[in-house]
Amino acid sequence: IALPEAIFGHRANSRGVEFGDRRSLDDFLAARNRAKLIGLDAKCAVPGLASNPVDIRSPVDGSVVGRSHHLTAEGATKLMDEAKRHVVAAEKVPAKTRAAALRKAADIMESRRGQLMAVLAAEGGKTVEDALAEIREAEDFCRFYADETERLFAQPTPLPGPTGEENRLRYRSRGVAVAISPWNFPLAIFIGQVAAALAAGNVVVAKPAEQTPLVAELAVAILKEAGFARDSLFLAPGDGETGAALVSHPATAVVAFTGSTETAFAINRALAARNAPIAPLIAETGGINALIVDATALPEQVADDVVTSAFRSAGQRCSALRLLFVQEDVADRMLEMIAGAAAELTVGNPKDVSTDVGPVIDAEQKRMLDEHMAMMQRTQRIRFAGTLPEGLPAGGQWVAPAIVELARAEALEREVFGPILHVVRWKAGELAKVCDAVEATGYGLTLGIHSRIDETIRFVSERLAVGNIYVNRNMIGAIVGSQPFGGSALSGTGPKAGGPNYVVRFGREQVISTNT
Ligand code: NAD
Ligand code: ALA
Repeated sequence: IALPEAIFGHRANSRGVEFGDRRSLDDFLAARNRAKLIGLDAKCAVPGLASNPVDIRSPVDGSVVGRSHHLTAEGATKLMDEAKRHVVAAEKVPAKTRAAALRKAADIMESRRGQLMAVLAAEGGKTVEDALAEIREAEDFCRFYADETERLFAQPTPLPGPTGEENRLRYRSRGVAVAISPWNFPLAIFIGQVAAALAAGNVVVAKPAEQTPLVAELAVAILKEAGFARDSLFLAPGDGETGAALVSHPATAVVAFTGSTETAFAINRALAARNAPIAPLIAETGGINALIVDATALPEQVADDVVTSAFRSAGQRCSALRLLFVQEDVADRMLEMIAGAAAELTVGNPKDVSTDVGPVIDAEQKRMLDEHMAMMQRTQRIRFAGTLPEGLPAGGQWVAPAIVELARAEALEREVFGPILHVVRWKAGELAKVCDAVEATGYGLTLGIHSRIDETIRFVSERLAVGNIYVNRNMIGAIVGSQPFGGSALSGTGPKAGGPNYVVRFGREQVISTNT
């Protein structure tokens, strides 16, 4: 087997630089064929809740890989009633014990990377490279939030006592935390939200995306094996109706949501409509992410970074590049190189280690992408249209990478969540106009700048309110603890996942002032 450099080259995670993981790949290769029918069953462990069975189909070939039991709205409401009963017990678990359980969960995931990769490939269509990176990120989240709970929750912080009193700040749990995650990082984002909420001592009700409940079921089992009590974490499989019932419940004390901006608005409205205390919403949402390239940029590096940012993970990252602004003077040469690099990508079955681009998540997503391309073909200029190789599994959701040149940036009206890159040319002296166009998208998640001019980098970074800015590199794969991730404006509320202000948001503050 030709082993891709990305797997056996070094890569960074929050523990530093890690080298290729040969054992996990061997485990994956052994597990991948068994993964045709992984037979996992995602269900809420609380007996007697109303739910409907739903087959989970692989985006690779449409085969049934497991089953989910979607909680009805009534089932979700009863689950929240149950979760509320365990709030006091969950908070009594010392922060150091919670931290130890999170570290153990990370160790278990590390020892089971091969199996997790097989499930991520079968259920989520993840390539080997993406699956391994996602598992590493999930481990990173657990270890980082373990450190955070010890830093913040293990002991009170002494405050000044100018009047002779003793003042101490304590962080306490909020109660029941509801975590709602998307399908595109069905392990890393799912466990990141859950780990932070558990770190803060909450009871957690976690709803995975309807497309990817199976790896979530495994993640919950791992957290329990690592030491979290059965009644401190509840899996709530289901769809948007299930999620809406969870957030509308009066016991919901904090919501961590990652997904589309529209859903974040709906959750915000549902929380506000309750007759209950105000609950904070931590929302991480979408983006129309731009990369600005000027005439001083290095063409080979730009081509490599653009292809990685726009097409890896089949463009199904919230951080992915959607809108490339390239300076007119170098545009033709750059676009030729980018199209050449895109043509080298292998679209294929994630079971094959040489696959660069797997399927998109489901038929609905493929339909939206195909419709978008049809509209682009009618109204804009197609610079590159990739082809699908013969022999791809029938029933898979295949979309070939494409590059579209837009007459104006405004022609891209919404986040297009797939392997389609949009390009706009700009003229020297028009950098401020480019920034206006980026700002006009209303989003602020990731931004790339390729330039050798310090003043250009400074100007753009100052001018745009974007959460994560990447200079002279690709725009994906933020590292927990080193590159806290999350946006502003339509892209989310903050605080950033994997950053120093995240876990604390799942807690509440209490100050005790004692007359000594
Ligand atoms: P989505 O909003 O459709 O679904 C996300 C989750 O919300 C799912 O679990 C879904 O069942 C649930 N949901 C849907 N309606 C709900 C409601 N009314 N109340 C409560 N829950 C509800 O998003 P998606 O299509 O699964 O994910 C793709 C989107 O996620 C893209 O916009 C992408 O940019 C964004 N995303 C953002 C980040 C980030 O960190 N900023 C990371 C990954 C994905
Ligand atoms: N955290 C993911 C990335 O940075 C979304 O690509």
